Amino acid sequence: MSVCVVGSGGREHALANVLARSGDEVVVTPGNPGIPGSTLVPPDDVDAELFVIGPEIPLVDGLADRLRAQGKLVFGPGADGARLEGSKAWMKAVLVGAGVPTAAHMAFTADEHEAALAFLATLPGLYVIKTDGLAAGKGVTVTESLPDARQAVAAFLSGEAFGDAGRTIVIEEGMTGPELSVFAACDGKQAVVFGSAQDFKRIDDGDVGANTGGMGSYTPVPEVGPDLIATVMDTCVEPTLAALRARGVDYRGFLYCGLMLTPDGPKVVEYNVRFGDPEAQAILPLLDSDLVALLSQAAHGALRDQPVFSRDAAVCVVLSSEGYPQSPRTGDVISGIDDARDLAGVDVLCAGVSEDDRGRLVTAGGRVLNVVGRGADLLTARTVAYDGVAHIGWPGMHYRNDIARSAAVAM
Ligand code: AMP
Ligand code: GLY
Repeated sequence: MSVCVVGSGGREHALANVLARSGDEVVVTPGNPGIPGSTLVPPDDVDAELFVIGPEIPLVDGLADRLRAQGKLVFGPGADGARLEGSKAWMKAVLVGAGVPTAAHMAFTADEHEAALAFLATLPGLYVIKTDGLAAGKGVTVTESLPDARQAVAAFLSGEAFGDAGRTIVIEEGMTGPELSVFAACDGKQAVVFGSAQDFKRIDDGDVGANTGGMGSYTPVPEVGPDLIATVMDTCVEPTLAALRARGVDYRGFLYCGLMLTPDGPKVVEYNVRFGDPEAQAILPLLDSDLVALLSQAAHGALRDQPVFSRDAAVCVVLSSEGYPQSPRTGDVISGIDDARDLAGVDVLCAGVSEDDRGRLVTAGGRVLNVVGRGADLLTARTVAYDGVAHIGWPGMHYRNDIARSAAVAM
């Protein structure tokens, strides 16, 4: 079966590698010069039997609907389902209607500034203010200070902080506990678990510094057993899918459930309507099943098989460019990718790269490469990943040294 992956990052590189395993022809649009099969032909003009859409922006913009209207088989929700990620206020309304555990909240528009401040004052302590719309993972303020929270409300609602994405906000009660990402593949009616992982949002070791799109990930998460996953499916994912169906949404795609494991049990922090990046890079290579078969069944609305994963562990370390996330420097020549790939258990996935006029791979974004190590346990996978990292370099290359460190020791 020929497959077209839409997107250009490390997640799409991982998807393309795993989709290509069974000999299927895979193109990636627009991809990047480090992903085999990349093409600048737009998705509407690609001739493929299955389309898999990676990032949220084309999903929210209705690419899946447009392709389906052309008679194409698509794995990825339509714009109606993608609202789960495109509007936090709508997502929270769906969750509350479905009885899914989540933080208490209220949504406010720009002309409800006073009401927003009044609601803030009723909250017990940790204050959380979010943009309703997409803000590249940056539109969230979490603070213990009421004055800072009030200031954030003003900056969001005025449009000063995030433009139109912030003119509607969600204010919610702060939750505490470890975070966990659980993934499911959905066919509109049923959802099957597609792994879980821990990611690392902050730029520097010890979870300090700027918030990023993700500096690394690992799977499995030692504290997460089958009972916790079953609870998340029963209390969060399945009721959400049922609530979407009740609203007429036929959700066929990955559902990313961002959770906080609170003292009162798992609660949903957010949904994303796609696989996580860099969680996909750790989870997908461990799939033993045929990904093309699974995603085409889901895209047809009739999932029959359960994904089966290897018992191995995987650790993904993100290599970023100098200045990321504020102002990534680009154009630096990257060395050592092939040497890293020659090591047993190492793969290198390309995210923010382009080619210079001599055909060399150069940095072209913030998160440049993902080095994935695989092994029988987290400690081995982690060692393998960092051995791979040691072969790669460019001026100003940055990465975290502590991806999966405490989990590998705990295992
Ligand atoms: P979101 O974009 O909704 O995933 O939020 C980004 C990050 O903000 C999450 O990964 C959490 O670390 C934090 N966060 C979001 N909502 C809450 C909440 N209600 N309580 C505590 N932290 C939160
Ligand atoms: N790793 C976080 C995300 O994909 O949004």
